Amino acid sequence: MGPTDVKEFLNKQKNIVEEQLTNYISALTAPKSIKDSMHYSLEAGGKRIRPLLLLGTLRSFGKDESIGLPTACAIEMIHTYSLVHDDLPSMDDDDLRRGKPTNHKVFGEAIAILAGDGLLTYSFQVITESLKNEISAEKKLMLVTELAKAAGPEGMVGGQVADMEGEGSVLNLEELEYIHRHKTGKLLAYSVIAGAILADATNEQLNKLTQFAHHLGLAFQIRDDILDIEGSEAVIGKPVGSDTGNDKNTYPALLSLEGAKEKLTFHIDEAKRFLYSVDMKHDILDYMCNLIASRDH
Ligand code: IPE
Ligand code: IPE
Ligand code: MG
Ligand code: MG
Ligand code: MG
Repeated sequence: MGPTDVKEFLNKQKNIVEEQLTNYISALTAPKSIKDSMHYSLEAGGKRIRPLLLLGTLRSFGKDESIGLPTACAIEMIHTYSLVHDDLPSMDDDDLRRGKPTNHKVFGEAIAILAGDGLLTYSFQVITESLKNEISAEKKLMLVTELAKAAGPEGMVGGQVADMEGEGSVLNLEELEYIHRHKTGKLLAYSVIAGAILADATNEQLNKLTQFAHHLGLAFQIRDDILDIEGSEAVIGKPVGSDTGNDKNTYPALLSLEGAKEKLTFHIDEAKRFLYSVDMKHDILDYMCNLIASRDH
């Protein structure tokens, strides 16, 4: 596929994911307040990078994307919950997300916390209840176990804790890499791995794609750190300067803006090196590497 076709593929899949996310929340029998709050953050926008990585990986193995849709939506639910909680006053204390007031600003802290809890737990139900005939119970168990690892204390939650505990002290590069790798990298990597699991990838392909996704995940968060300095609030849809205000450890703070940009290029190059070592189509994931490296929001 050329770049125009890849773009079209990604746009189409994004629309499908967004429609399905809305359907999943609408289908819930739950108090109106929490449903409204879940709809609000899920439908506020967002690039949907993680679902697109999963669906793009499936297509790169020549598989039909539809078998990945529930897991793609589950990942976006977990990601959105992580943003709702990340913005809370006790965490990053931000008022703007995806171009709109943050969830707790609209629904209050209690409902924002519960909406996050709801998105997290519902995501597992979405995977286990889906595609009864198309995906084996064994494969679903693997998808759910790996998702729990990527999102939990050994993954995203652990990274968020290290990020909070590191505020105000200067960490070294290894410690900072732990934070980025966990708070962002693990869930992003899972998106690729889940696609590969669904596509029946071999262990060798899974190992190389894990390396690919590790570098891509680091690059993604380094770009996020850079945008917190260089970005425009109107374009990124969240406050600029939040990291500096919270005395966060970031790549630009540790390495300077130029140093952070060099690291970003290094990790994108490494990601592509691993990508091209896997026997699969490379066009969609190559395009997504470039998107992540140069994104302005
Ligand atoms: C923001 O993620 C938080 C990080 C993990 C860096 P995204 O940049 O993917 O946010 P949305 O989903 O597009 O809003
Ligand atoms: C948050 O990192 C990552 C997660 C939400 C897990 P940041 O705190 O840098 O994300 P933004 O900049 O608020 O989106
Ligand atoms: Mg944060
Ligand atoms: Mg934040
Ligand atoms: Mg950030």
